[in-house]
Amino acid sequence: MLLCPAQNCAKCPRLVEFRTQNQNKFPSYHNAPVESFGSLDAEILVVGLAPGLNGANQTNRPFTNDYAGDILYPALKKFGFAQGNYGRIKNDGFELLNVRVSNTVRCVPPQNKVTADEIAACRPFLQAEIAAMPHLKLILSLGSVSHGAVLQALGYKKSAYKFAHGAEHLLPHHNITLIDSYHTSRYNINTNVLTAAMFDKIIARLQQLL
Ligand code: URA
Repeated sequence: MLLCPAQNCAKCPRLVEFRTQNQNKFPSYHNAPVESFGSLDAEILVVGLAPGLNGANQTNRPFTNDYAGDILYPALKKFGFAQGNYGRIKNDGFELLNVRVSNTVRCVPPQNKVTADEIAACRPFLQAEIAAMPHLKLILSLGSVSHGAVLQALGYKKSAYKFAHGAEHLLPHHNITLIDSYHTSRYNINTNVLTAAMFDKIIARLQQLL
């Protein structure tokens, strides 16, 4: 199974329509499904929501040039999970260490909102990603949409594992721990739902759990 949809994937009509609009409006952007970032040998998989219009959809690297990446990547580096300087572009030389970063839905959605059908259409890629990570121990879900998508991708009932910031769910059939965090979105940071200190605690916890 492919780890990422084909660059001209047509599974989601709404996302294809948005892609076509963006190809006209922003011809220099990537405007296609965005591949995950980091090695498949990593023990940690971070799963976000979907590329941002002027972020990952432009740069072709998850969370890159997205506000959410300005919180995520420095925190990973602070705790030894990255090296180099995060420069908001794909060829900045920034490297993830023992972490891979992916998204629930690989194409940019209008208004940063994905539908249940789009999550379902992209599920095989998340499943393939997880299956292709032989050393995977921890999945960090950024936000409740990612949390639900990971559970469904692995065949667990969403109702049995409630999303809560800082919650840790051992997934018995996979021996993987799913950790929840509020998403590092601009909205969550601006409204203090998530602070840099709260997110640091989550990343420090990943280190302890390994
Ligand atoms: N950029 C991404 O790639 N994913 C998110 O969830 C948010 C921004």
